[in-house]
Order: sequence, then structure tokens, then C-alpha cells
Amino acid sequence: MATPGPTEQAPCHFVIFGATGNLAGHKLIPALYHLEAAGRLPAGMDLIATGRRPWGQPEWEGYLEESLREHIGEALDTEVYHRFQQRFFYLQGDLRAPELYQRLAARIADCGPVVCANTVFYLSIKPADFSTVIGHLDQAGLNKPAGLHRIVVEKPFGEDLESAGLLNKLLHKHFEEEQIFRIDHYLGKETVQNLLVFRFANTLIEPLWNRNFIDHVQITVAEEKGIDTRGGYYDGAGALRDMLQNHLLQLLTLIAMEPPPALEADALRDEKVKVLRSVRPIPKQALHAHAFRAQYAQGRVGGVAVPGYQDEPSVAQHSVTETFVAAKFYVDNWRWRGVPFYLRTGKRLARPLSLIAIRFRHPPQQLFRETPLEFIEPNWVLLSLQPSESMHMEIHSKRPGLGMETRVVQLNASYRGDQEKSLDAYETLLLDVVEGDRSLFIRFDEVEWAWRVVDPILQHWAHDRDFIRTYAAGTWGAEEANRLFDKDDQTWRNAL
Ligand code: BG6
Repeated sequence: MATPGPTEQAPCHFVIFGATGNLAGHKLIPALYHLEAAGRLPAGMDLIATGRRPWGQPEWEGYLEESLREHIGEALDTEVYHRFQQRFFYLQGDLRAPELYQRLAARIADCGPVVCANTVFYLSIKPADFSTVIGHLDQAGLNKPAGLHRIVVEKPFGEDLESAGLLNKLLHKHFEEEQIFRIDHYLGKETVQNLLVFRFANTLIEPLWNRNFIDHVQITVAEEKGIDTRGGYYDGAGALRDMLQNHLLQLLTLIAMEPPPALEADALRDEKVKVLRSVRPIPKQALHAHAFRAQYAQGRVGGVAVPGYQDEPSVAQHSVTETFVAAKFYVDNWRWRGVPFYLRTGKRLARPLSLIAIRFRHPPQQLFRETPLEFIEPNWVLLSLQPSESMHMEIHSKRPGLGMETRVVQLNASYRGDQEKSLDAYETLLLDVVEGDRSLFIRFDEVEWAWRVVDPILQHWAHDRDFIRTYAAGTWGAEEANRLFDKDDQTWRNAL
């Protein structure tokens, strides 16, 4: 992690737009609390929580404590909490009202004995509100002096290729690139960073990592949870924009990229962009064979009855927004040509599971004819990100006994030892924002090329708004997702 340069003095204010929202409650505030506990927040940095709720400071503090108790539980330390709570100031107001920004500017100017205006603005709000906030920050002079402030923009960055370009232009009108932190929290996950180590620190792996040995790659991010209270945002986004365009494509690039010349932010990003540029565009007439969407209907998750998507709060009647998406991509370069990458993600699926599953080709000769057909599984490498953080290799060994049969055994390795603490991705990334280190943040050309990859699907679905297939909540999604597979012996891997 970089230490701040001379112009990158630690921020004195950290402003959260949307502080009473879902992301702030679930992720940002607990992560900031953990940084407080670890003594990593700069002394004197205050936290300004802006929200619409008609609260004063006491109501905010009541909410803060309750929310932290819910997410941190027993581990909440009274002394740390007290210190943390004292940093906060609740600024009530409407994001669209200029006077909110005037009050914010007044608060920032009122720095106490040390003059410091250096501020982080975290946009934990609906993407539709980004441009409003950015414009108002400028009008209130809060983007100046240039170079000092930092702005953190949550994904999805735009809602398609065109709007992403416009958003980027707008940001650049008011902020320098060095001030912009485009966040994809998957890059802050240690298990995701481990993909680089797995690939580039093990000579065992690299020679096999290509089309000569790999049959296909599957990337699954399955969630058990639904959309909670995020209907307002989610109904306009859907699984393709919410998850696949960013998190899943980032995973794909890390699996498919060439080794960078150095482990430096820009060198890595260059290689990731090359992968995205090599993804074969999906022709209109082949869309059906490359992409599938569905929406959850009511069902049972963990034994509990849950409503269907259409009955969730703030979801439009007859919405055809997808809560499940599966897609097939080809990376047309020397390493990967012809190897399908199957990606899928969904809400209200059977179990939470984030898994990268790499299936190898069958051996060229079938020597062990006594082995029953159902045991002739090729090798798999399984990289599990959630809920278990582990690596597995499936290989054949001799079945004990008189015959010459084989069976599959798994070599398992946990990523983390029993005593090794797991960090939330947001802890890592928020600390990077505070320290001014942009290495784990996204460069605009990555966003742009990722939109190019999914744009044909978005465009097709935008015209096809009459019908969406459903799946019962608590299942693995609709059967039709199997239509993407190139071969009969390819199926989704739902477990380790
Ligand atoms: C967010 C999406 O970016 O990632 C959410 O907006 C999703 O819909 C979440 O639930 C999943 O993150 P994680 O870290 O729980 O896999």
C-alpha cells in the first residue's frame, strides 16, 4: 500500500452520500468502524453522514449504534465505538437541493484549529443521482482546490456504454483522474487477489493454463439473499448490470489475463483490458445461445417462505428485470481461443456460492476401461471465494481393490488458517481511499470495455420486454440456462 505523497495529505473529512442506505449500513460503516478499531483512521478526520431522513444528531447516533450492533454484534467495543461515534456529524438534506451543499461547504470550512479542506466524497447512492451530486459539489466549490479532494464512485459505472462515457466526461469536467476512485469491491477481496498469486506464483499451473488443456471455465456468484430494500435501484439495474458487467467480468479478466510485466496497478489494468478487448462480440442472431435471464418467483430459502421478486418493495408491476443471468463468452486470443467461459449469477438461489471452476480436457487415451462411465470425470481446479475460501484440485487415483479402476479424489487447501482473520473488502478499499492509493480501483477503459462486452445483451433485452422466465426462489435458477453449454457433458457446478 502506498504512503501518501506530499500533495496527498490524509483527508480531514469523509462524506458519505446515502449514509442511511443499504450499502452504507451493511458495508461502509462497519468497515470504517473496523479501521477505527485498528487505529487506521487519521486522527482528526471527521465523518459526515448525509441522508434524507429527518433526523438530528441523537437519532443518527441511535441508528448508528443499532446498525453496528446488527452487523458487528458482540465484538462491538464500547471504547472504540465511543471514539468512532464522536467523529460523526449527521447532515440531513435532499441530494437535489443546492442548500445541502452550502451547509456541507460551511461544515467543511469550519475545520477547527487546523485548516484542512481535504475531503473524500463517497457516492453510496443510486447511479441515477451521481450527476446531480457531482454538479452540486462543483457549484458549491467543493471540488476545489483541484487535486485535493477524492471522489469514490460505486458501481455500476453508468448503465451502458454510452452513459458510462457521459458519466466519465462529467467527472473529468470537475475532478482530475487522480481524484477519482471507481470502486469494484471484488478487487478488495483477498481471495480475488489470491487468483494472481495462484496463477503467477505457481509454475505448476501456468503451463496448463490455456486452450490445449482447459475444456471450459465457469464463474458462479450465487446469492441466497434477495434484493432487501434495494428494489428502487435494482429494478432499474438487474443482475447483468449489478453483478456481471463488473464483478464477474473482473474475475474473468484475472483468470484469463497474461502475466503483467510487473505487479503494478497500470500494468495489471493493461493486461485486464487486453482480455476484455479480446472477448468475441456476441452477434445479434446468436444472442439466445449466449445469454439467458430469469427472475425469481416465490419459494423457500433455508426452509423459510420468501416472496417472488415482483412482490418485493419498490419493484414495478410486471417488471421483467432479471435477477439471474447466465452468459457464455469466448476470449479470442492465442491462449483461450475456443474455450468457453460460462458466467452466471443470481439472487435467491439455493445456497451462497462464489466459485471459479476450471475443467480440464479428457486424457487423449482411455486406458482404464474398467472404470464405470460415471467416474470418468476430467480434472477440475476449483477456486472457492465464498463462503469457503479454499482451493481444490480433483484428480484420479486408483480405487483400492483388485481391479484397475480409478476414482476422483480432491486435494483441498484452505486459503486461511484457523487463526487468520478475514478482512472485509471494504476495509481494504476504504483504507486505500484514505491513503490515496488507487491500485485496486478501476481505470475507465476497463469499465468501457466491460460495457462493450455486455452491451449487445443489454440492447437485445431492452427490446424484448414482454416476458421473462421465472425460477422458484431457493433453487439453482431455471433449467434453460443449460442451453448455453457447447457440449452435452458440460453442466453447472453447484458445489465443491
Ligand atoms: C454488490 C451488488 O455490488 O455486490 C449486490 O450490488 C450484491 O447486489 C453484492 O449482493 C455481492 O457482494 P458480496 O461481497 O456479498 O459477494
